[in-house]
Amino acid sequence: MKTRKERVDELKLKVEEAQLGGGLKRIESQHAKKKLTARERIDLLLDPNSFEEMGMLVTHRSHNFGLEKQRYLGDGVVTGHGTINGRQVFVFSQDFTVFGGSLSEAYAEKIIKVMDLAMKVGAPIIGLNDSGGARIQEGVVSLGGYADIFLKNTLASGVVPQISAILGPCAGGAVYSPAITDFVFMTKGTSYMFVTGPEVVKTVTHENVTKSELGGAQTHGTKSGVSHFTCENEIDAFQRIKRLLSFIPQNNMENTPKLKNSDAIDRADILLDTIVPENPNKPYDMKDVIKHIVDEGDFFEVHEDFAGNMIVGFSRLDGRSVGIIANQPNHLAGVLDIDSSVKGARFVRFCDAFNIPLLVLEDVPGFLPGTDQEWRGIIRHGAKLLYAFAEATVPKITVITRKAYGGAYDVMNSKHIRGDINIAWPSAEIAVMGAKGATEIIFRKEIENAENPEAALEKLTNEFAERFANPYSAAERGYVDEIIEPRFTREKLIKAYKMLENKVDTNPRKKHGNIPL
Ligand code: HXC
Repeated sequence: MKTRKERVDELKLKVEEAQLGGGLKRIESQHAKKKLTARERIDLLLDPNSFEEMGMLVTHRSHNFGLEKQRYLGDGVVTGHGTINGRQVFVFSQDFTVFGGSLSEAYAEKIIKVMDLAMKVGAPIIGLNDSGGARIQEGVVSLGGYADIFLKNTLASGVVPQISAILGPCAGGAVYSPAITDFVFMTKGTSYMFVTGPEVVKTVTHENVTKSELGGAQTHGTKSGVSHFTCENEIDAFQRIKRLLSFIPQNNMENTPKLKNSDAIDRADILLDTIVPENPNKPYDMKDVIKHIVDEGDFFEVHEDFAGNMIVGFSRLDGRSVGIIANQPNHLAGVLDIDSSVKGARFVRFCDAFNIPLLVLEDVPGFLPGTDQEWRGIIRHGAKLLYAFAEATVPKITVITRKAYGGAYDVMNSKHIRGDINIAWPSAEIAVMGAKGATEIIFRKEIENAENPEAALEKLTNEFAERFANPYSAAERGYVDEIIEPRFTREKLIKAYKMLENKVDTNPRKKHGNIPL
């Protein structure tokens, strides 16, 4: 019989063994690839000494291909809970040093266990992904494990925030777990995601493409929009995850966290008065508008490198988080196209699911014309943004800084789709379309028959602009609640959100809506 000491030593040995994952050699190889180990990552992400591991001694149960001779404690994924800035989170961190971080039946069960707990407790789940995909030796059992996780991701969606960091390979069907989560972080140079790798691509489509071109951080941060944050390295990714968490509640029953605010709530900012150029065709940077309004100019941008004509991200007003959705006149004149509509819609739905008030800053000339957009379904995709705003029941405020034209006026959280407070600056132009385009249509005959058509067009355009390129028709109808001097925007918004703090609004009872996907 073992003595008490021998039993404790046995435990200590097992814990030590588990700490080493797939062993020192593989840890060295992981470091050589500029990647941290699963445990190092958790240490950097969570508050010091806050991590409580679960399932450290789990092993796989497979006897295929001699696998029974290779059992590693923990089986390739480190799972548990801890805190970030004192707030509870649940984590799973895939350990590439054990079978390339590939997913077994037991491994999937460990992930499901922490996801179940996270949902019961009401705390975010953070997945650190670095895996060769399905554990090939386990075959269909591994596929089943993935599907179990996908189901859990889907059920957790809108209940607790789900965050994925891709810090190594993430390929094949495995990509669909991060894809369902709310935010994807990728690291430059060390991470990639694709459904099929370069070899298969070459065979099927004869394209020559590298892993990083096909699915690296920059590719997904700029082209596909799969990734929301392109990080310099793992440390950068963890810092940004912490910052993201600081803006969002723990679950769908909580309100957004309120931080201490030392920026005066009645701070009038005269720079805002001159940001919009007098020439309506000149661009300006909507991020400047954001920075001059929000607490300490602090804006945490999401999807920074994707669909630049739409800006989305988080800021605070008097310490309380707001989700900002803004057109960017500096990029494609802030036009709505497929990518920007989808980007905006997903962000609006995240905020609405997690009780984060919305702030819309609007300067939009309309939807982007052309066969490319029409044939790829701008109707369907634009409808997503409209649907997302219309169904959202959180406090919703719109500030029209300049153009609010056509269907885009309706879409961008107009009064008609339940905008709570709709404000315009004196520079706002709320109209069916731009003055010149409108004049060309409704005065076509007069212009054609005029002695000097160009001069006639200019004169009629000026008359039209004088009459309609302003916020007053909308104000007369109550479509905007107030027209304000730009410098007072911050104070107006803070007062409005305060007024809306106890807002309750609901949608008709239904199983779920049918957003035009
Ligand atoms: C079992 C695996 C594995 C896997 C890697 N390993 N992938 N073991 N199942 N899927 C093991 C290797 O045998 C090796 O073991 C160790 O992990 C490290 O792998 P290396 O190849 O040496 O590393 P590296 O050169 O960095 O390449 C990493 C890699 C490559 C690109 C991920 O290993 C690879 O292509 N793996 C196969 C990927 C794959 O086809 N997975 C299935 C996809 S289908 P040792 O003992 O030498 O350390 C899929 C379906 C999911 O995932 C479906 C969900 C619906």
